[in-house]
Amino acid sequence: MERIAIYPGSFDPVTNGHLDIVERGLKLFDKIIVAILLNPKKQFLFPIEDRLEMLKASMRDFPNVEADAFDGLLVDYAARRGAQAVLRGLRALSDFEFEFQMALMNRRLNREVQTVFLMTGMRWIYTSSSIIKEAAQFGGDVEDMVPPVVLARLKEKFPALSQPHGDRPG
Ligand code: PNS
Repeated sequence: MERIAIYPGSFDPVTNGHLDIVERGLKLFDKIIVAILLNPKKQFLFPIEDRLEMLKASMRDFPNVEADAFDGLLVDYAARRGAQAVLRGLRALSDFEFEFQMALMNRRLNREVQTVFLMTGMRWIYTSSSIIKEAAQFGGDVEDMVPPVVLARLKEKFPALSQPHGDRPG
């Protein structure tokens, strides 16, 4: 039986921390489907088409990884895709409560789907899409935190990011 995991998230945008989790996950699973939740209620920096495109480009070099988007309950999507597990990354302790709550809810909704947490690499313990967007907005250097395709998109959104360090205000 093929071991398939869904790695769900907002991926607004995908970061090197996410890629680290995929790389670790590939040691445990035959296939990983990285799936973006279509969530019209939440405000995102990048529209779903852009997020999916960046995700696909970033995952291009990984074997057995697919990028997709889904609607509705995660466990239903997992069942549709024949996945036995949901993969999530854990960084600092602050992630724990939300992740625990989500995993328990998903278990209530479908007992067949297991949640697997992988600890992110030390380098990525304090990185998140939100903090990267915050830094990039004001011209902060985030080059080593995101895949090249994401850096290019962030530079389009935030011109301050393309300015040489000395020329930045503040
Ligand atoms: O990257 P995020 O925003 O932390 O990801 C959250 C996500 C998409 C994994 C979570 O919101 C989700 O799975 N939503 C799908 C709806 C669902 O199944 N909800 C019930 C379990 S919380």
